[in-house]
Amino acid sequence: MRAVHNVNDLQKALESAELIGLVPTMGALHAGHENLIETARRECRTIVVSIFVNPIQFGPGEDYSQYPRTLERDLEACARRGADLVFVPSVEEMYPLPQLTFVEVTRISEHLCGKFRPGHFRGVATVVLKLLNIVQPQRAYFGEKDMQQLQVIRRMVLDLNVPVTIVGVPTVRDPDGLALSSRNKYLSEEERRAAPALYQALQAAARRIKEGERDVTKARTAALEILEKHPLVRVEYLEVVDPDELAPVSTIGSSVRIAVAIWVGRTRLIDNVFVNAG
Ligand code: PAF
Repeated sequence: MRAVHNVNDLQKALESAELIGLVPTMGALHAGHENLIETARRECRTIVVSIFVNPIQFGPGEDYSQYPRTLERDLEACARRGADLVFVPSVEEMYPLPQLTFVEVTRISEHLCGKFRPGHFRGVATVVLKLLNIVQPQRAYFGEKDMQQLQVIRRMVLDLNVPVTIVGVPTVRDPDGLALSSRNKYLSEEERRAAPALYQALQAAARRIKEGERDVTKARTAALEILEKHPLVRVEYLEVVDPDELAPVSTIGSSVRIAVAIWVGRTRLIDNVFVNAG
């Protein structure tokens, strides 16, 4: 495995590569990322992992400067999981000029996280399109924990005829249900004990819907009651949404997704589950 830091070296290394799989990351790799790499390894011939903390997807006052940077350990994880190349560009390599061009996926970006993180999905879509253009993979792998990001990228690829297959990979969880996230590193011991309430709340609402509940308010209440028991938890949003565009629904149809964002102390966590209402 080789780490490369600039676009020219990466493209030279990929000159005769076949069936390229790209796993875009911001580093601080955990078992969820390792699962993305392993999935890519099973399906592709050449695996490229990118590690780049993308400044344009962070808003003012967000955690860009504190975002965990653990390059040495990340490179070990990439090697262990079978990556061939790790692309680790600097900010200057990715944005050599002031960026004047941005990708905006309307509608899907506007609710859930988009409401609370203006400009976030524009920054994500822009850097992902740049990475797809640089690496030119046949397949690219993203975690389902960031479902809104995944749907934004899927729609960007469709709308702009980007020749790549986007693969969504199921969320990896700790045994107590907490979805793995690089931001879990921010949690104190006490906060970590409160954090599984996020998944418990999603499961409670999903259970109500599977049992036949069709009233969105009642399904949301089942989840909110669990979160409200935890003094360290503040709910940012908890919505029952349609599975494609992730817009909040007023009545529950045959399938929905429940999406939630909470703050545990100063750490923001998100999660979601798909519910087949039957
Ligand atoms: O999910 C992430 O880690 C980032 O949003 C991504 C897709 C690598 C773009 O910076």
